[in-house]
Amino acid sequence: MTASEQPADDAAQGRAYSVPGCVTIRCRQHGPLVVEMPAEGGLRLRVTDHEGRELPLPDHKRAVALCRCGQTATKPFCDGSHKTAGQKSTGDHPEARAPSASDA
Ligand code: FES
Repeated sequence: MTASEQPADDAAQGRAYSVPGCVTIRCRQHGPLVVEMPAEGGLRLRVTDHEGRELPLPDHKRAVALCRCGQTATKPFCDGSHKTAGQKSTGDHPEARAPSASDA
């Protein structure tokens, strides 16, 4: 699994987390942070290193998975290593709320 494949898996399984007009950062259970751009609005996703150099992203992707376990070989992107590293983080937050109709 690569950083660019992770969000596609969610789409294939019918899970949609994006909200129109919003950049969504989703904490995957026991996995990466998925940054997802809205389909509309003409926004472009950029990831840079500490000196501002842009990291290559697939042109057709609106989302990337960023590692939060520290085990990836492709920092800052998730490469799936969290699965064997035993990453345990639910992404639960005590004040999290489900998306509502007003978010659409
Ligand atoms: S969160 Fe996936 S490799 Fe770290």
